[in-house]
Amino acid sequence: MTNLAEQKERKPPGVRRRVLVTGGAGFLGSHLCDWLIAEGDEVLCVDNFFTGGKQNIEHLIGQKRFELMRHDVTFPLYVEVDEIYNLACPASPIHYQHDPAQTTKTSIHGAINMLGLAKRLR
Ligand SMILES: NC(=O)c1ccc[n+]([C@@H]2O[C@H](COP(=O)([O-])OP(=O)(O)OC[C@H]3O[C@@H](n4cnc5c(N)ncnc54)[C@H](O)[C@@H]3O)[C@@H](O)[C@H]2O)c1
Repeated sequence: MTNLAEQKERKPPGVRRRVLVTGGAGFLGSHLCDWLIAEGDEVLCVDNFFTGGKQNIEHLIGQKRFELMRHDVTFPLYVEVDEIYNLACPASPIHYQHDPAQTTKTSIHGAINMLGLAKRLR
């Protein structure tokens, strides 16, 4: 997982990456999906819609390079991607305090699952 400037440098011209964005229907994730699509990448947006909503990404639904998957990152995910951005987690106190156990599971199991996926995909 690298910063966007580094990533832009690394991407050779004409290469299309397949990028996983967890929490892709959230505030940050949906803007990242927009940016990646504009960069010419393929985006797999994963979200369980706990705090995010389809309205944040509805303009992307139906686009050829955009795919939406409803999935909870506390469960393992087996997909083939080149890069992973793990943004799935409720961000505001009102949401993350609503169900502290689920928030903790999302932070920890979600990160472990995404690291496991990154390790498998090298
Ligand atoms: N917004 C900010 O200014 C800011 C600043 C620094 C860090 N962050 C961090 O960035 C991340 C995203 O923040 P945000 O503002 O976009 O929050 P957000 O609540 O808008 O987005 C989080 C997304 O994750 C999804 N999600 C939550 N639990 C999930 C689960 N178990 N499985 C799959 N999807 C799940 C939600 O449905 C939502 O779409 C958070 O970890 C937050 O702490 C945000």
